Amino acid sequence: MKATGALLMSLALLGCSAKVDPSAIDYDEVERPVAQLSSDEARARGRALFKEKCALCHGERADGNGVRSKGLSGKAVDFGSSGWRSNTSAIAVFEVLSEGKRGTSMPAWPTLSDEQKWDLAAYVLSVAEDGP
Ligand code: HEC
Repeated sequence: MKATGALLMSLALLGCSAKVDPSAIDYDEVERPVAQLSSDEARARGRALFKEKCALCHGERADGNGVRSKGLSGKAVDFGSSGWRSNTSAIAVFEVLSEGKRGTSMPAWPTLSDEQKWDLAAYVLSVAEDGP
């Protein structure tokens, strides 16, 4: 994170007026908070946030059947699917929450803190194994 800030700062000093492109973040370099991701407290916080912000599309039971799930561009992911679970990662969830998914109805969440994004990752990644 620090390195990104320094990079953006030097671009600014060079008089580069281009808007900061969020996709300039290299998500492979983002540190995963391992303890948070496996903590029951984080999962519980993520679950509460999910009900508040995500269930509309992804469903109260995180199965992709939210009340707004019809007519979306893309199919709201069923987080209980082992196929989805085995092909994703905490970083991938963090990235999609930060950037949204271009060309689909999955929005970016600029109002969520990094802490909240990891809580949500802890929750959605646990659904396939522990249920909604
Ligand atoms: C307006 C509807 C909508 C809302 C609200 C929404 N999503 Fe999504 N989400 C989608 C759709 C549609 C997709 C599937 C995109 C695609 O086609 O790949 C998706 C995909 C995802 C993916 C999977 C990306 C991948 O390719 O593996 C994750 C993770 C995700 N959403 C998390 C969340 C979380 C967490 C929230 C709440 C903060 C949320 N979404 C809120 C519609 C929504």
